[in-house]
Amino acid sequence: MHTPLNLPVRILAVLLLTGCALSTTAAPTAAQPTTTAPATPPKLDVVWVPTPPEVIAVMLEAAKVGPNDLVYDLGCGEGEILIAAAKRGARGVGIDLDPERIKNAKINAEKAGVADRITFIEQDLFKTDIKPATVVTLYLLPELNQRLMPTLMRDLKPGTPVVSHDFDMGDWKPEQSHEVQVRRTHRVYLWRIPAR
Ligand SMILES: C[S@@+](CC[C@H](N)C(=O)[O-])C[C@H]1O[C@@H](n2cnc3c(N)ncnc32)[C@H](O)[C@@H]1O
Repeated sequence: MHTPLNLPVRILAVLLLTGCALSTTAAPTAAQPTTTAPATPPKLDVVWVPTPPEVIAVMLEAAKVGPNDLVYDLGCGEGEILIAAAKRGARGVGIDLDPERIKNAKINAEKAGVADRITFIEQDLFKTDIKPATVVTLYLLPELNQRLMPTLMRDLKPGTPVVSHDFDMGDWKPEQSHEVQVRRTHRVYLWRIPAR
């Protein structure tokens, strides 16, 4: 036999249990969004397509990349151009907005034994400080090259080579242009930043 609770004690018990129930359900509900929210995918200006090694060789040779160079690959993908540049003794900075590309670029540079010569940064190439570059490499799109042109002209030192796979710069005529056959005809353009 159990003792019936008097009315004030029963009211107090109900209030306490209701309060506990509310407080225990509120906490996990509030924490969930931070653990389950999906990552926002980066808004890329161009998708990843790697430059073939044969084309990279022509790009780096056109710019005469060597041990004194700091090569910036704007939209670096998984680092193939910079890894090849590092094998010629250069240092590199790779910029890409896609975290997956940056992650794999770092793994690729490690495997190639040149990770100490290359810095990969997850960043928008249009917001990158390119002033330290002695060579810039691009594999973007014609309209992106043209959007980038004023920054190249403003921030790079006169004489700095800019090399682009496949796409030109509109009215800015290249100093060199090459054709490379790898399943199709690839084009390599080289410009030099003019004196101001
Ligand atoms: C055509 S791939 C070129 C990859 C590499 N440069 C090569 O030639 O092998 C273009 C790269 O630009 C990156 N990208 C697109 N929009 C970008 C942006 N606004 N800022 C930085 N990277 C971007 C893509 O994720 C992709 O990896």
